[in-house]
Amino acid sequence: MESDIENRPTAQAKGLLPIDIERIKADFPILDQKIGDHQLVYLDNAASTQKPRVVINAILEFYRKYNANIHRGLHYLSEKATAMYEHTREHTASFIGGVQPKEVIFTGGTTGAINLVAYTWGEENISEGDEIVISEMEHHANLVPWVILAKKKNAVLKRIPVTPDGYLDLTNIDTIITQKTKLLAVTHMSNVLGTINPVEALAKKAHAVGAVVLIDGAQAAPHMPIDVKAIDADFYCLSAHKMLGPTGVGVLYGKAELLDAMPPFNLGGEMIREVRFDKVTWADLPNKFEGGTPNIADVVAFDSALHYLEELGMDNIRQHEMDLTAYTLDQLSAIPGLEIQGPRNSNQRGGAISFTDSDIHPHDISTFLDSKGIAIRAGHHCAQPLMKIMGKVATARASLYIYNNEQDVDALVKALGEMRRYFGL
Ligand code: ALA
Repeated sequence: MESDIENRPTAQAKGLLPIDIERIKADFPILDQKIGDHQLVYLDNAASTQKPRVVINAILEFYRKYNANIHRGLHYLSEKATAMYEHTREHTASFIGGVQPKEVIFTGGTTGAINLVAYTWGEENISEGDEIVISEMEHHANLVPWVILAKKKNAVLKRIPVTPDGYLDLTNIDTIITQKTKLLAVTHMSNVLGTINPVEALAKKAHAVGAVVLIDGAQAAPHMPIDVKAIDADFYCLSAHKMLGPTGVGVLYGKAELLDAMPPFNLGGEMIREVRFDKVTWADLPNKFEGGTPNIADVVAFDSALHYLEELGMDNIRQHEMDLTAYTLDQLSAIPGLEIQGPRNSNQRGGAISFTDSDIHPHDISTFLDSKGIAIRAGHHCAQPLMKIMGKVATARASLYIYNNEQDVDALVKALGEMRRYFGL
């Protein structure tokens, strides 16, 4: 396999701040433990990342000192909690490229964000014969809502194919995105292949035919600088728990004019302007989409995760992961019987690395690695159609983040060698 690790300047050589992995590891209490007799090596970051002490402390501090419901109390705690919650909204708006805070809607996760769009914008804007374009590498979260919407509306679901080496095949893109396209919904980074998709160019094509563009950023937002305005995304969705934040917090970014025109999703308290027995009017953005009591403590703690990422610098994080991904691909490709999925060029991919063994089922790989304290994921990774296209029932997947280093990868590679010997291969 071709390696670009030798010739590429490291983050340090580029003049970026060096990432001190040992210092970072020390910020994550969960990493400092043994699983059985083995030091934990956590390589399941595409599923969920671990939380630094500042995030854990922020949750504790919120419940100890500030807990109250927001937006409605006229007392100190409620006002303080409201300010903290709204501060995270402002911070998120700046983190994703400097959008208006009212364009940031907090949801339960990326799945919740995409469903919100499908059940509001989708219900109102997709009609019989319209075309919805997705790619073959979508996670079920950005697939199932569109399959169901297309069925319900008699719309047509079209797919951008995936090449054998894990890229989007754009050869026939002009016959896929057409005048009939109403929505392009595509992932920024594949959770199976690691591929970073050319979302800016795709958005341009979709906008040229008047389509709306939704980007599933769940895997990209944790790992690289995100500028939704540069992408010109109409909707961009992400999950806090994949970027050091708590579970149960997602973000739907939407352009204000689109969000303003959409009907609300969750009907109830907080999202109304005026309620009568015969008529209800809606609150302004963002409240219109945040009916009920939101996940206040976790949204507040997400602010600390964003600070942590910003202190490291998203460019530095990306560079570290490119270096480590290149190293991992090199190391894994030296193991006999192992087949790696997705692009081999770490400039065009993130650190979610799927692989299979010619003789050992991915679930057995995962179980063996677990016996060595190494956490990876095995299965279809919520991408069953892609698995079929790849000709696999499942893959094993190691996925990297800021607290992983070459020693973690070496432990994985050593254990995979032991596994093959254990199975008599
Ligand atoms: N979407 C997450 C993953 O790919 C859960 O692992």
